[in-house]
Amino acid sequence: MTSLEGKVALVTGASRGIGSAVAHALAAQGARLGLASRSGDDLGIDGAVAQPCDVRRPDELESLARATAERHGGIDVLVANAGVGAYGPFLELPPEHLEEMIDVNVKGTLYAVRATLPYLLESDEADIVTLASEAGRRGLPLEAVYCASKFAQVGFTRALDHELREHGIRCTNVCPGGVATDFAMGRGRTPDMPALNGMMTSQDVAEVVTFVLTRPRSHRILETALRPMTEESWG
Ligand SMILES: NC(=O)c1ccc[n+]([C@@H]2O[C@H](COP(=O)([O-])OP(=O)(O)OC[C@H]3O[C@@H](n4cnc5c(N)ncnc54)[C@H](OP(=O)(O)O)[C@@H]3O)[C@@H](O)[C@H]2O)c1
Repeated sequence: MTSLEGKVALVTGASRGIGSAVAHALAAQGARLGLASRSGDDLGIDGAVAQPCDVRRPDELESLARATAERHGGIDVLVANAGVGAYGPFLELPPEHLEEMIDVNVKGTLYAVRATLPYLLESDEADIVTLASEAGRRGLPLEAVYCASKFAQVGFTRALDHELREHGIRCTNVCPGGVATDFAMGRGRTPDMPALNGMMTSQDVAEVVTFVLTRPRSHRILETALRPMTEESWG
């Protein structure tokens, strides 16, 4: 196991849900943080660099990456977590939801890597963890556009591994099934839906991200898939 003590991690989508849990978990391990979300919440984490940052805006990501590296002396870890979802029959999906899923989930991930990679390349022990989804591993009903966006993230991160391994940068897709957060709320999920009760917690996912990041540098985890016991495997 390697230590996260003193490492610098930039987490996107950090203001709540999985991103918030990951940020707190990494801070508890001694990491110093840069936090990206539109609300710019610093989560009360000591020393964290937080400023409003929409991942659809490369300039805002570059500004946050610069501020994080200046405050903490570099960036070692990117957790590309920011994401949105909307479920329903493809033709009934409002065009703005389609655009947002592609812009935030796909372009937001590409922009986050572009903004941080120059710093990761300067690190001796760097990691990129993409919060993808089970929807990035198989087609799921009523999730056509969300699946498209998550397959794109998975393909991007898997392909990056080829060019970044020789630079000592590990690239991992973390692919959860259902996690009880605000995700897709009012856009296919409702607060009273029974399935929420059986879903994983954000902390469950944060523990997996921490596990990935603390593996010995002799190896890397390319993908993890985790599902609540209440969900089928679907093959
Ligand atoms: N929940 C699940 O069942 C589940 C399962 C598998 C994978 N995932 C993935 O896990 C990731 C996190 O999901 P979650 O469940 O934690 O969702 P969530 O509770 O809705 O949180 C989403 C986070 O993303 C941020 N965000 C949204 N749009 C953004 C933008 N344009 N720029 C910057 N930040 C933005 C939000 O902050 P602001 O609103 O403050 O910007 C918030 O911090 C997503 O990529 C999602 O696809 C979720």
